[in-house]
Amino acid sequence: MRMRKKKWARPELDSCEYFIKEPMINKGKWIEFFKNSAPIYLELGCGKGNFISKLACKNRDINFIAIDIKDDMLGYARRKIEEEYEGNGIDNVALLAYDIERIRRYI
Ligand SMILES: C[S@@+](CC[C@H](N)C(=O)[O-])C[C@H]1O[C@@H](n2cnc3c(N)ncnc32)[C@H](O)[C@@H]1O
Repeated sequence: MRMRKKKWARPELDSCEYFIKEPMINKGKWIEFFKNSAPIYLELGCGKGNFISKLACKNRDINFIAIDIKDDMLGYARRKIEEEYEGNGIDNVALLAYDIERIRRYI
């Protein structure tokens, strides 16, 4: 059975500071986006963010780029991340709605 599209997902992502609409701009210079030289980990196909939300929150000295092709999945991931950080600033995560097969265009 097909899941009904989550209408809330895109508007929530659009107003999220760490949702990157045009990742190509950051290609090769993600250090500048994160404003530090900490290592950058990628999650390819982050789904609903069960993994990335916990890992990023526990490892604030590592930057994380989580990528999924589906807005709905990223919408859930954003909500999970917000929950996990409990109002603390989220400065080590970037969410990208892109095809990981085209990763060379934006990483
Ligand atoms: C099994 S889920 C990942 C679950 C995630 N690790 C977690 O902890 O919640 C796999 C995800 O990969 C995404 N995906 C599949 N093909 C993709 C592609 N070509 N580009 C980006 N994401 C893709 C799917 O949309 C799906 O959300």
